[in-house]
Amino acid sequence: MMANTAMLRSFISEMTVIADLGLDEPTLLDHAKPLMQRLLSNDEWLPSAFAEPDEQHYRQYLLHCDPLERFSLVSFVWGPGQKTPIHDHTVWGVLGVLRGAEVSQRFVAGEGVFHEQGAVEVLDAGAIDMVSPSIGDIHKVWNSSNSKPAVSIHLYGGNIGTIKRHSFDTEGVSKTFTSGYSSNVVPNVWSL
Ligand code: FE2
Repeated sequence: MMANTAMLRSFISEMTVIADLGLDEPTLLDHAKPLMQRLLSNDEWLPSAFAEPDEQHYRQYLLHCDPLERFSLVSFVWGPGQKTPIHDHTVWGVLGVLRGAEVSQRFVAGEGVFHEQGAVEVLDAGAIDMVSPSIGDIHKVWNSSNSKPAVSIHLYGGNIGTIKRHSFDTEGVSKTFTSGYSSNVVPNVWSL
């Protein structure tokens, strides 16, 4: 069955209008958050090909990239028990949980090492988290379930798959990485 992509289509058009406003980051995030809330309110719009977990590794499927690379939208798909390393983003991100639940631990740089910042947070379906270099950009995230997949929808302030970022070990030693995307196609949001 074809997924109902109207919700994704309107998210893309409304987010493009917001990007055109040239807002400062806090105001832009205030505008983007309700759009993400609406996207999380129903999940019939996400085609199943973009919600497929992989046995080995979490997946990041591109759903849309703004032609001027001002923002991109991805579905992040966790297999049971999968987790990210400690990592940064270098751009703002609005992270919403669509299915299942994920767990997040933030980190803050200290004297050459990273410290856990605050408690571990459980984000259930519908929850939204935000990251950016100005509000806290370093975290580790994992699927809260060891038996079921989880899916989250991430909006980033750039073409996230091509951005040079960093992963860290607990001593704070960093490695540069570029995530790429898990598929070479994006959903067709233009069919009726
Ligand atoms: Fe992240």
